[in-house]
Amino acid sequence: MNTKPILALDFPSEQHVFDFLQQFNEPLFVKIGMELYMQEGPDIVRKVKALGHDIFLDLKLHDIPNTVGSAMKGLAKLGVDLVNVHAAGGRPMMEAALEGLEAGTAVGSKRAALIAVTQLTSTTEEQMQREQKIALSLQESVLHYASLTKEAGLNGVVCSVHEAQAIADACGEDFLRVTPGIRLAGGDTHDQKRIATPDGAKHDGSSLIVVGRAVTGAQNPVAAYKQVRELWEA
Ligand code: C5P
Repeated sequence: MNTKPILALDFPSEQHVFDFLQQFNEPLFVKIGMELYMQEGPDIVRKVKALGHDIFLDLKLHDIPNTVGSAMKGLAKLGVDLVNVHAAGGRPMMEAALEGLEAGTAVGSKRAALIAVTQLTSTTEEQMQREQKIALSLQESVLHYASLTKEAGLNGVVCSVHEAQAIADACGEDFLRVTPGIRLAGGDTHDQKRIATPDGAKHDGSSLIVVGRAVTGAQNPVAAYKQVRELWEA
């Protein structure tokens, strides 16, 4: 798998995406999330892919196994590199997602890696315990969901940098830990609670980092991306 920092294309329209991407003269690894996908539909995925970029399609599916399996079969046809579901959907749902993805992948093509969201990084421990009635620490819940995800045969999880090393220890180095919440030293933290620098994320066990506003909101996005990449790859 491509290990370049994943750039989150959190833009409201196709035009914003192309204006942003045309500044870069190299193939990138980008993330298309719900905001853009809901506005522009699957065509935006095809168009960004046609420019030669690798794609993490971050739609976080969560429904009954049959529905998620069928949806994954459809998404597989877009030829993306990384997709995800919510681990809270349960093991049968994750297994169905994997089956759907395999069934939808064209013969001779590489199947997208499939990862699961454990606890959203916007969920606090107090909120999880009160609303989900989970009598564990947030870290224990995340580790539990990571193990369930591994048992279901998936390739890894989305987690905070904070939990990445514990997940690697429990699930193995090959099990992906994809971590958002990345900032350059001294940069604005925005609404992210648990943040890390690219080199800090590497040190703390991330296998892939997702970077949004630290690059998309920079005065010079190309320079900010270069800085993120150098720190990540150092
Ligand atoms: O701008 P920023 O770097 O905070 O963007 C992080 C990206 O990662 C956003 O697209 C956000 O939706 C996503 N994400 C996250 N936390 C998660 C899962 C995804 O921040 N747990």
